[in-house]
Amino acid sequence: MQIDKLLIDKLKSARSVVFFTGAGISAESGIPTFRGKNGIWNKLKPEELANFNAFMQNPDMVWEWYNHRKKIIHESVPNPAHLTIADMQKYFDDVTVITQNIDNLHRRAGSNKIFELHGNIERNYCVKCKKFYNEELDFSEGVPKCDCGGLIRPDVVWFGEFLPQDQFKAGEKAAMNADIFFIIGTSAVVYPAAGLVYTAKQNGAVLVEINVTETEISSIVNYSFLGKAGEILPEILNKYKTAVNL
Ligand code: OAD
Repeated sequence: MQIDKLLIDKLKSARSVVFFTGAGISAESGIPTFRGKNGIWNKLKPEELANFNAFMQNPDMVWEWYNHRKKIIHESVPNPAHLTIADMQKYFDDVTVITQNIDNLHRRAGSNKIFELHGNIERNYCVKCKKFYNEELDFSEGVPKCDCGGLIRPDVVWFGEFLPQDQFKAGEKAAMNADIFFIIGTSAVVYPAAGLVYTAKQNGAVLVEINVTETEISSIVNYSFLGKAGEILPEILNKYKTAVNL
């Protein structure tokens, strides 16, 4: 694969490197994506599972689905793409991950600065009093309830809900300050998350996309790598390390 020398030069002078990631970065860990050939949304309707009303009407069904996803996630491990991003922390002053994923794999890979725009499947909270329950929940007597009587839900963003503002604002700031902004494994069609790509571009970042197909934002990026994130990211880091004699 051809990696442009200019990109390596940009990396050499970069202080702030940001990775904006989506479901595709975890595909090589065995976690299904949402769109595309085997995407989750081809088989299931988001409005029946990933929204608050669906949960209140049928909490058992929604939890069954999230527990199924949680099982897949717990059986998965970070792949070379997650690990390379974590490794980058050794070579750059400021490495930020902004992820749409709820799978916690960036943290398990060792990344330290992560903004989670769509929540995290390892956390839960009460729909009534908002108390957090981050321990393993007990489903032996049905959907678990809070001390206050409210149902406990996963701490993930459902359709029609606001993004966690602290995470989004921090992600926006990172996008504004990015020297290089990688866009990895996302179809970049879900807003407001996808808007961060434009924020980064408007503020002068070099945009680098890694995806197995072209996407909505391919026409506006500076570099586009078509292929698997778990293969391309390690190659980019290796080329960088060779260039700086590491
Ligand atoms: P999508 O499923 O929409 O897109 C996944 C992207 O990853 C596609 O563009 C694939 O081509 C690409 N891809 C697949 N395998 C890859 C690989 N090995 N290497 C690189 N790229 C690969 O997932 P997202 O863009 O993350 O939101 O979806 C955004 C949001 O839509 C999700 O966070 C979720 C969903 O509805 C909520 O649940 C709120």
